[in-house]
Amino acid sequence: MKIAMIGAGNVGASAAFLLLSHKIAKELVLLDINANLAKGKALDLAQSATLLDINAKIQGGDDYKMLKNADICVLTAGFARKDGQSRDELASKNASIVSLWASKIAKFAPKSVIIVVTNPLDVMVSVALKFSGFEKERVLGMAGELDSARLKYEIATHFGLKNSDVSAQMFGEHGQNMFALNASVRGRKISKNELLHLENQAKIGGAKFIALLGTSAFYAPSAGIFKMCKALKSKNGTELICSIGDENGVACAQILKFGKKIKIINAKLNAIKAKKYAQAYAAIKQNLLNLENLSHK
Ligand code: LAC
Repeated sequence: MKIAMIGAGNVGASAAFLLLSHKIAKELVLLDINANLAKGKALDLAQSATLLDINAKIQGGDDYKMLKNADICVLTAGFARKDGQSRDELASKNASIVSLWASKIAKFAPKSVIIVVTNPLDVMVSVALKFSGFEKERVLGMAGELDSARLKYEIATHFGLKNSDVSAQMFGEHGQNMFALNASVRGRKISKNELLHLENQAKIGGAKFIALLGTSAFYAPSAGIFKMCKALKSKNGTELICSIGDENGVACAQILKFGKKIKIINAKLNAIKAKKYAQAYAAIKQNLLNLENLSHK
């Protein structure tokens, strides 16, 4: 499998290392407008593959042609959030980067699946869908598994449990309007107040890093990319929460089953959760509209 990592920053490089060390990709290309950054990280990865006795072809650079025949293109390029900045504030700057790359992917890797990681995530999935012209099942956003892991982490840490004792899923938007779809722990009940508190902690899960590191997280996002690539490769029916566009071109979280084809599994939403999902969808749609109005000015 050939995987193209677009953006050789922290997220792209960490994901590349995971994909390489788990032998998901036989061929990896790192692309970045900073060609030396991509070349340098590719060289470091190639030497680590040698050290780990892994045969893989790894290259870096800034030439779009390197996308040729990629099976998966992971789009991490774009500006990351700074302290106090919301994901939405990045929309217009990152939309121009994502739309350009989406059209290059359509040209050089027309059969690939695009995994979008750039923020604001759901809006950027919608932009990549539009500019690639791909069918919706081939433009997926990585966030649902990341947000679910953050909720699971908060619950496990709060109750002093092992990860394996906790089950949790986050849904909706990768932003302010995410909400817990499910959360349960073995052998005890989580009260409404406890869940609300832990859900809020998970919601600010991404922002915590900006305060600590001055940049966004990268190991957990790269683990999310890895899980999606693995599911795409194995086609074994793994179910993952991803962002995917609908018939209006608006992307929002859905449960996807990665079999021979990618299928949407309808999430069970009670009235309260259906309302939260509608709020998330409306917020993403509004951000997309704001972006379109901006580009017409
Ligand atoms: C985060 C970025 C990937 O939540 O949005 O860490």
